Amino acid sequence: MINKKTERSLAAIAGGGSNAQLPSSCYTDSGYHELELNRFFENSWMAIGFASELPRTGMAKSVDVLGKPVLVTRDDQGKFHVFANICRHRGHILVEGECTNKKLLTCPYHAWSYDLKGNFVVAPFWDGTENSSPTSEEKSSMGLISIAFEIWYDIIFVNLSGKAEAFEKHIQELQIRWHQHRPPSLLNCFSQQSYSLNGNWKLVAENFLDNYHLPWIHPEIGDSIEASLGLEVENQRLSKDIIGCVHPTAGEEKNKIEKPLPCWPDDTRRHPPLSLQQDLFFIFPNTCLVMEGNYLWSMILMPTAVDQTDEKIALYVIGNQAMNHEYALSRSQLADIIYRINDQDSQVIKQLQTGRKMHAASCGIFNSRHDQLGKWFHQRISEMMSGDIGPQHKQSD
Ligand code: FES
Ligand SMILES: [Fe+2]
Repeated sequence: MINKKTERSLAAIAGGGSNAQLPSSCYTDSGYHELELNRFFENSWMAIGFASELPRTGMAKSVDVLGKPVLVTRDDQGKFHVFANICRHRGHILVEGECTNKKLLTCPYHAWSYDLKGNFVVAPFWDGTENSSPTSEEKSSMGLISIAFEIWYDIIFVNLSGKAEAFEKHIQELQIRWHQHRPPSLLNCFSQQSYSLNGNWKLVAENFLDNYHLPWIHPEIGDSIEASLGLEVENQRLSKDIIGCVHPTAGEEKNKIEKPLPCWPDDTRRHPPLSLQQDLFFIFPNTCLVMEGNYLWSMILMPTAVDQTDEKIALYVIGNQAMNHEYALSRSQLADIIYRINDQDSQVIKQLQTGRKMHAASCGIFNSRHDQLGKWFHQRISEMMSGDIGPQHKQSD
């Protein structure tokens, strides 16, 4: 459901001429939220987890994706697969939680079994006799239902509707930017954490893209207000689905780690060195990435209600040496800094969500010096949500 007033606001923001912000209803209205999940998440390449959550062959893990049961498996050759987490017989959930060392996944209801590639293997007493089974032809159409997926920088992206543009196109600009000097093959995940945040997913994304709050919410980051504000930050809209900013010297003030972690290999030959540069990008609909000279910080946002968001964080260092014992303290100091920042932000998100209960929050005022990324974010949401809204979704004020 989307009311006419909201629809008018969205159309104005989408047009680009308006300095207005998204109305409060976009953060509080469950009907609007459902529509947003459909347009932004199901029809796009949404992130659902990290490949490093399944480090070994024979693993299977269920993931709640917008309330829908999804299954990620890793077969005996180490290959990943993503399926609807339901049995082909009567639709019982196939895997709950996580399992390891599996060759077969057996449904708890009537014991139909599948291998980790999703092939149907056996259904007991198929024709009433002990060793009977369907014909090979029948079996071939009884496998688990696949979901389109891609793994990029350890992130598992799925397209639930099958209607998204090609993944390569979706990610192209960031791929071009990073693949040569920051190859994903060098990443080593050393820490993961999950959070439940009391706020709409857009507030989490908007806060991620907000540099203006840094000196007040995270005073420990910079040596001065000017430094932590990142006045030299360059905002970038790489594509319709990738926005963010580049901070040329973020590493300089941020590196409070006693023994600096190893950088990307060819770093020292560049001017200024990549070790100082921070790339901060949001990939619509739900991926946040902070790439620095010696680590990557990835966050996946998963809406669980209009005012609730689950967040998964993974932290990576560069190369195998950074995983050695000599860097154990550095890794743990880095994780402490990032998780402390995240705790501070989770309080902000709760306050922002509560503020949206007042209709007056619809009249927020963007600061033209600091809020460009927020403006682009609102514009992209509005483009997706305004126009082409069928009569079944319309209601009058
Ligand atoms: S529902 Fe799975 S075996 Fe019947
Ligand atoms: Fe923050």
